[in-house]
Amino acid sequence: MESIWSQSCTIPQRQPLTGDLEVEAAVIGGGMAGILTAFLLQEAGCQVAVVEAGRIASGQSRNTTAKITAQHGMIYQKLLRTLGAEEARQYARANQEAVQAYKALIREKQIPCDLEERCAYVYGSDAQALQEEAQAAASLGLPAEYAHHVPIPVPAAGAVRFTGQAQFHPLKFLRHLSQGLTVYEHTPVQQVEEDRLMTPRGCIKARHIVFACHFPFLNVPGLYFARLHQERSYVLALEGAPQVEGMYISGEAGGWSFRNWGDLLLLGGENHRTGESGKGGRYERLRQKAAEWFPGSREVACWSAQDCITPDGIPYIGRYAASRPNWYVATGFQKWGMTTSMVSATILRDMIGGKESPYARVFAPDRLETAAIPGMAADGGKAVKGLAKRFFQMTTQAAEEIPPGEGGIVLWEGEKVGVYKDKDGSVHKVDIRCPHLGCQLEWNPDEQSWDCPCHGSRFDRYGRLISGPAQEDIALD
Ligand code: FES
Repeated sequence: MESIWSQSCTIPQRQPLTGDLEVEAAVIGGGMAGILTAFLLQEAGCQVAVVEAGRIASGQSRNTTAKITAQHGMIYQKLLRTLGAEEARQYARANQEAVQAYKALIREKQIPCDLEERCAYVYGSDAQALQEEAQAAASLGLPAEYAHHVPIPVPAAGAVRFTGQAQFHPLKFLRHLSQGLTVYEHTPVQQVEEDRLMTPRGCIKARHIVFACHFPFLNVPGLYFARLHQERSYVLALEGAPQVEGMYISGEAGGWSFRNWGDLLLLGGENHRTGESGKGGRYERLRQKAAEWFPGSREVACWSAQDCITPDGIPYIGRYAASRPNWYVATGFQKWGMTTSMVSATILRDMIGGKESPYARVFAPDRLETAAIPGMAADGGKAVKGLAKRFFQMTTQAAEEIPPGEGGIVLWEGEKVGVYKDKDGSVHKVDIRCPHLGCQLEWNPDEQSWDCPCHGSRFDRYGRLISGPAQEDIALD
């Protein structure tokens, strides 16, 4: 299940790190946030190296729908209410400036990445709420207005429209931007100590260390696992569907998103918390919608994405922890990874360069000690629920009951294990205790993966790690 981005663009391979190295700044993670941060640091005269456990853009940057916008759902009324006008304005400006920064960078460096200026729409069924949201966003200086007409086949009373937003091809952009950077691929960071990164074949000494690896994999300091959870969403690329002339998301839970890339229409939706896949059927439900709304269209690709979610809906960008003044973090991008990558890169470049960023405060990772306790408690409750499941749920299912091509939790010699059965009937066992903090993993039938409900680690059907915070495989002999 490859996205249209990875089907249409290959980024040249880089060598792993072999030997020791000393740089001013080391960036962990070769996705959009890591590459942009490294690029801006290098442009500012800083000597920087990127270390990536897999390949450049092998994580979520290849699975995004690649919208560049300051419109992040129906958030601006809420931000005004919870943060007050000053910090709500910081959030709005940081994101709107990120949209402009992408356009300027792509223009200046002549990056061929299919950039198109588009309006962004958040649609919904409550016209008054949409009008109030448009007013709130406009009051913060954003290019927002209420739109009566929503030209997509979903019942909607209206929409909030942001003009001058953009969409692009994320991998074409990253291929170009990473060209002049020092990047070590297949170089997982195993340990971080003060000013050193340990990798399997070498150590990097760095004055500044940036964690731009989607989910911070160290439990302490920072305790990010206690204040992030992950969500999944699904996308179909359709041929023979109409041009929608904009980027659309629903302002209501369970809604759908739309945007075009060339002749294709991307239809997204079916969000859920990672590890709560239920019986699956996510792609099927999207296909049903595609058949209903765009009869005659043909699916050419399908894929899914995973996002880190914070309790207050604002990313964590800034100092990693008070005890590590030379570590920095960029995570919790919600569903807005492209725009927030630019916001992060700008803030972190300023911080590392000793400049005060006008936007640092609203994104400061330490803000949640007071601001988001209710949300954190709810997330913590989910994590506890996951742990409790592990201890108290029994299963009577036997491996023989798992159909070929499927997986599930079974009783095997008196113990609960995860089993995936190949099409030829061979059985692959996994330990269903998540190696991160021990929650019980769940089988995801749509992606044929083992997913953790607590903090979102994922493993393929054979037990190989797909994404953290866990750092180990779960395959059993
Ligand atoms: Fe934390 Fe699984 S990801 S326990």
